[in-house]
Amino acid sequence: MNLLDQIKEKAKAKAKTIVLPEGTEERTLRAVPILIKEKIANPILLGDPKAVKGLADSLGVDLSGAEIINPAEAPFFKDFVQDFYEMRKDKGMTPEKAETLMADPLYFGSMMVKSGKADGEVAGAENTTGDVLRPALQIIKTAPGISSVSGAFIMIVPNCEFGDNGVFVFADCAVTPNPTAEQMAEFAAASVSTAVNLCGIKEPKIGMLSFSTKGSASHELVDKVAKATEIAKTRFPDLQVDGEFQADAALVPKVGASKAPGSPVAGYCNILIFPDLQAGNIGYKLVQRLAKAEAIGPILQGIAKPVNDLSRGCSVEDIVNVVAMTAVRA
Ligand code: ACO
Repeated sequence: MNLLDQIKEKAKAKAKTIVLPEGTEERTLRAVPILIKEKIANPILLGDPKAVKGLADSLGVDLSGAEIINPAEAPFFKDFVQDFYEMRKDKGMTPEKAETLMADPLYFGSMMVKSGKADGEVAGAENTTGDVLRPALQIIKTAPGISSVSGAFIMIVPNCEFGDNGVFVFADCAVTPNPTAEQMAEFAAASVSTAVNLCGIKEPKIGMLSFSTKGSASHELVDKVAKATEIAKTRFPDLQVDGEFQADAALVPKVGASKAPGSPVAGYCNILIFPDLQAGNIGYKLVQRLAKAEAIGPILQGIAKPVNDLSRGCSVEDIVNVVAMTAVRA
């Protein structure tokens, strides 16, 4: 069974409820009957039921079995507004602004997850990453002990002898433009859970990436990655982590042995932590396009409850897959 089928099987066993705030988005609607038929999750669509059903009818999509909630008309809308106002009043939130924002399905969806009315959320087919993440970060917040959320991609590279038989976790590829060394260390720790729980990687080995290997170049950018490596080793002593590494030293056993002799992970890394979002985002897209790798994600790591973002170029199948991953993490 391939990795995605394994994830779907795990999702089926959990039968979680996933809220889909983009209830009038075509690919989202097309994903819903698949989710229900394959029992991957119980989907809740947000939006005006007339508009949602109208679009579904025009597409010939059968929504039976899916709940549709219009945020502003939900019986718990006022409670959500009050809770959101209390949560944010020290940051200048007013009751009026809270009411306006809570009518936005992305805010309402995050509140459904926070309150336990849904187990997870998937959006982003028609909204930017920033617009999906902002309410999630404001409302659901980070998991205990974690201060920074990151976005990982599971990369499945065909005909590849590196990593875990061609399977890798790349982070951060989606959230934090210029992470500190402390944040990079947290991304490393959070990526281990993604590697183990979603990819079934038994021995997560983390490479902290740079343009230098173990001091081969000196620059403040390299210093950040070396510091991140030390922080990761100190804060998370159970991790198998090392750096700073160039990508070839992290991936290729011969290169790792020659550039970083004695390193416990050089040449065998299956988790790659990038020094900033430009490198991470460019890196995963290069591997996806040039090596024809499957890129699954971004998977939001370090958030208290699972929310995942879709690419606006996503397919119906991508939505089904991301819902399955969200359900597994719930
Ligand atoms: N971890 C945890 N919390 C965070 C993080 C983080 N990495 N970043 C921001 N926050 C929190 C802030 O602390 C703040 O909380 P508060 O309001 O309770 O104090 C809240 O989120 C909003 O943060 P701001 O910095 O005020 O808001 P911003 O508008 O900058 O939003 C965001 C943060 C959305 C993550 C922004 O940094 C962003 O847009 N990142 C890039 C996303 C992106 O475009 N990715 C690339 C495309 S994705 C792809 O290709 C797959």
